[in-house]
Parts: sequence; C-alpha cells; structure tokens
Amino acid sequence: MTDLERTFVSIDLAALPHDFLWGTATAAYQIEGAVAEDGRSPSIWDTFSHTPGKVAGGDTGDVACDHYHRWREDIGLMRRLGTNAYRLSVAWPRVIPGGDGPVNPKGLDFYDELIDALLAAGITPSVTLYHWDLPQVLQDRGGWPARETAEHFAAYASVVAGRLGDRVNHWTTLNEPLCSAWIGHLEGKMAPGLTDLTAAVRASYHLLLGHGLAAQAIRAVSPSAQVGLVTNLSTVHAATDSPEDLAAARRMDGHTNRWWLDPVHGRGFPADMREVYGVELPEHEGDLTTIAAPLDWLGLNYYMPLTVADDPTGPAPRARQVARPGVRRTGMDWEIDAHGIETLLLRLTDEYGARKLYVTENGSAYPDVIRPDGTVDDPERQQYLLDHLAACASAARKGAPLAGYFAWSLLDNFEWAYGYDKRFGLVHVDYETQRRTIKGTGYRYADVIRAHGERGRRAA
Ligand code: FCB
Repeated sequence: MTDLERTFVSIDLAALPHDFLWGTATAAYQIEGAVAEDGRSPSIWDTFSHTPGKVAGGDTGDVACDHYHRWREDIGLMRRLGTNAYRLSVAWPRVIPGGDGPVNPKGLDFYDELIDALLAAGITPSVTLYHWDLPQVLQDRGGWPARETAEHFAAYASVVAGRLGDRVNHWTTLNEPLCSAWIGHLEGKMAPGLTDLTAAVRASYHLLLGHGLAAQAIRAVSPSAQVGLVTNLSTVHAATDSPEDLAAARRMDGHTNRWWLDPVHGRGFPADMREVYGVELPEHEGDLTTIAAPLDWLGLNYYMPLTVADDPTGPAPRARQVARPGVRRTGMDWEIDAHGIETLLLRLTDEYGARKLYVTENGSAYPDVIRPDGTVDDPERQQYLLDHLAACASAARKGAPLAGYFAWSLLDNFEWAYGYDKRFGLVHVDYETQRRTIKGTGYRYADVIRAHGERGRRAA
C-alpha cells in the first residue's frame, strides 16, 4: 500500500453521519469575474487589486475564473466530484450597488438561477453573505470602522434571504471576520489596506455586530434558516516554554481565536485582549446580546497552526510568528499539522458547547502543472486532504458534532494578495483558455465521498 492508500483506509468514515455534507467552497470575488456587468459596482477588492503593488503580479479579479458565465460547467464539475453541497458567496455590490438603498434585480437574478441549478443537480447550497467584497461606496463612507456599515449589512442580508430563503436554508453571515479586521485594517495586506489599530478594533466590533444584526434579519424573513458564522481559527504554540513566549501564545490565541468566539458565545470581548489593544470599543447598550444571538452552527476554516515568540515592540498582539524547523509546509509556506483541525473541533465542542459544526474551508496550495497526458497529479495536496479528513473523522468519533466538510476550493482562483499564482483548486484552471481539469485530489475526494455513501448504504 502507498502512504495515500494507507491514509485513505484510516479515515473513520463510520464516525461521520449518513447525511454528512460533502462540499467544495468558493467566494464571489475569487471566481466570478464580470466585475462591471449587469450593474455591479466596485468593491474594496477591485480598488485594492487595481492599486499598484498590492497584489502579486498585479493580478485582479476582473476575469478570474469567469464563473459568472461558466457556472453551468462548474456545477457539472461538482457533480463529477460527487459532492452534495456547495458553499458560495453573494457579492454585495451586485445586489445593492449603492451599498444601501435600491436593489439591483439583475444581481439577484444571477444567484437565483444558480441556486435553482444547484438544487436541480442535487447539491445543497450554503450561502455566505460577506466574503470580503464590501461595496467601495460604503468604504468611502467609513467602511467597517463605522457603525452604519453593520446596519447596511443587515439590510442587504434581508434582501438576499428574502429572495433566496425559500430555497436556501444554510446561511453564513461573515466569512473570517479576522481577515477583514486584522489583515485588512491592521496589517494592510488585504482590502481596504489600512494599518491602523483603532480602525481595526472598531472594524472587528462592527463586523460582529453586523453578524448579529444580519442573523436577526435572515431569521425574520426566513424562519427555518440555519444561520452560522465562519471563523478561521488556529492552534497556537509557544516557540519555547519561557514565560514571555507562553504569554505571547496566549495573546495570539486571544487575537486569533477568543476575540471572535467569546463574544458570539455570550462571554463578551476578552478582557486581556481589550487591554492588549487599548482601544475603546464603540459599544452601545444591547450590542453584546445582538452579537451573541444563538447560532445554529459554527463554521471552522482551518489551514495551519501558529507558533509564536514574544515580540515586545511589535504591533498588537506583540507575538511574532516563527518557523518550526523540520515541519512540512504547503506552497503558501504554511505549516502542515492535520492534528490541529481535530484539536479545534474538540475545543469548539468542549469549551464553547458547539451544537453543530462544519468545516467550511480546508485545503492547500501547490504549484500544479498539467502533464503531457493532460492530467494533474498533486500527491502532496492529496495527502493534505486525506490527513485532514482523517483528523475530522477522529474528532467526530470523540464527540464533535461535525455535519459537513467543504474543501477549499472547487477551482484554482484569485488568491487575494497572492494573485493567481497560488492554486488551491480540486480543479485546475488554465487562465488563458478557462479550461478546467480535475486534479488528482478531486478524484481522491470523489473516492472518499463514494466510500462514505457505500458504507451508509450497507449499514442501512
Ligand atoms: C481563506 C479565505 C479563502 C481562501 C483561503 C485560502 O482565508 O476565506 O477565501 O483565500 O483562505
């Protein structure tokens, strides 16, 4: 047996429920293209990607995977993979180009037709309302650091759920608020590209407020909706066991994990991190209750663990990431540690009392090439996928209420500040021709899904 075969048979498929969602995930700006079509207005990512020096290679999402025109073919790919679920995001600037106010019917029509086609193909849609593409007009009026943005977000959520909620049950308010707040407003490496701690903390607060308000808005128009939040979490390790490094790891855990999880679970914003940031929160009475409205499920995006050392003069949270020697890395230079996904699923279960969990993203980038015979062999990505699936099943066996797994990503796509150079897809995209080719990992994923289905049928 090869290593891959050994890992394959080690996945405890019996630990996963028979109605498990096997999906892939994408995001609007990363795949759609057609940025100026049918009334869409620019988002902060159009602005950011068109600003020289912000994105590798000067890449933009102008065309991306041209999914806006090729979505039928892309649903065909999902069927070939055997997936029964698909996580997509809706572009706010298509639906309400002015940020607030009039709805653009053509923007909604696109998603309406897509949802119908997914359902006809037996694929459950899981819809994310915000995957980072804030209408630029709202950025010009203050963006997430301004409270009004949270209110406009809820109004937009109500419009989308009002139109699609008769067919879509599975809703995500925000994707990874950490990236919007910390990477977008503190590190400046994502849109809107600010490096301002006060703006970042205010953005983090209003993102979570927007999540709470949007959850209410969705439930008001679609009472059967299952509403969740998608967080990207990491296990955090101290570089050494010095008291300074241990404290830095605790701060990084606060910055990455607790700042997001505590408030939505009714625990408020962690006191230690409020002190670290030293920024007054723009609190109004009742906000914490809105933010903590019970979730139907929680989404975990997991890619890598973090190892950190004390960085007394660095920016908040004063913890510097260090490389652990000898640990394997992906093409993103991210450390590989499949055990981390199990640790986090169990932490969400035991520490936060999660009732239902989905892995809403997990995957790896490698520099794939099409071989002369037309195939794409990607053994490292296959190993990454199988190792993480085995760890998920192990968490489920130990009691994590895991109801689905969405591989990132269906297609190679616009990987934000890294441009098109980093390929995460189960399907290879040739950006010159828009030709799609299922990679080895896509076939491997199909094998797992099939094996799980066969198990279920034998057991029935
Ligand atoms: C996550 C994002 C997703 C994708 C992956 C690689 O942080 O949610 O859009 O870029 O990383």
